[in-house]
Amino acid sequence: MSNETAKNTAAKNPRKVLVLGATSGIAMQVCRLLAEQGAQLFLVARNEQKLAAVAADLKTRGATFIDTAVADLDDTSQHASLLSHAVNALGGCDVALLAHGVLGDPAELDASFEKAGAMLQTNLVSPVSLCMWLGKANTIYGASKAGLTAFLGGLRNRIDREGVTVLTIKPGPVKTSMTAGMKGEEKFADPKKVAAQIVNAIDKKMDVLYTPSIWLVIMFVVKHIPERIFKKLNV
Ligand SMILES: NC(=O)c1ccc[n+]([C@@H]2O[C@H](COP(=O)([O-])OP(=O)(O)OC[C@H]3O[C@@H](n4cnc5c(N)ncnc54)[C@H](OP(=O)(O)O)[C@@H]3O)[C@@H](O)[C@H]2O)c1
Repeated sequence: MSNETAKNTAAKNPRKVLVLGATSGIAMQVCRLLAEQGAQLFLVARNEQKLAAVAADLKTRGATFIDTAVADLDDTSQHASLLSHAVNALGGCDVALLAHGVLGDPAELDASFEKAGAMLQTNLVSPVSLCMWLGKANTIYGASKAGLTAFLGGLRNRIDREGVTVLTIKPGPVKTSMTAGMKGEEKFADPKKVAAQIVNAIDKKMDVLYTPSIWLVIMFVVKHIPERIFKKLNV
């Protein structure tokens, strides 16, 4: 579709866009392009003055509807009411853009779990909460573990040179109380076998262990499935 055709289509059927963290530098540029296509925008940000300036700018650029709400998106208890208000105001939602985030000071984050926790709240817990309300996705266990894996990767990079080994253990389904009663339970791995592989990995100072080993192959394949196919799979 050419740009002109896209603009004409958008003008006839303006997209309803919810922007969370609307004062973000990236979000503002995205919103400008959408506004030029006549989009209807609901903007959420925590700084009232900045938000008003962004809304005024987008109005002049062609947005056909603009409403705003001031909210600190760290406060997940407000997400349900905020989103239902925004979606009602827009009369639906075609696109939700989550743009809020903080970078922080690495030295301060390393020195204070309180500050680290605050960043996790903004950059991980808050978007997950918003996505749950928006999409009702049930992928939180996997996401929490993926977040931990990323954290351990960074930690390994930092402290390996000091002679400290960080071993990330990635078990497939194992027969323990956590998986009792699950479908296919009889095929789950024996915890004794898994334990032996963990001890072996510790002895060998391995970085990452998939256990039982077949999960190395399974996850290699899963990681290489293109997103457009993965999203259609029931995994
Ligand atoms: N810029 C990059 O190079 C880069 C690269 C990769 C990923 N990202 C990610 O892209 C997203 C947008 O980043 P950006 O570059 O546009 O950064 P930015 O201009 O600093 O925008 C971040 C926005 O998040 C808002 N925010 C932070 N905490 C919030 C909270 N608790 N509630 C509501 N709003 C909150 C900030 O609001 P205030 O204005 O009130 O502070 C600000 O508008 C972020 O998630 C960032 O991590 C950026």
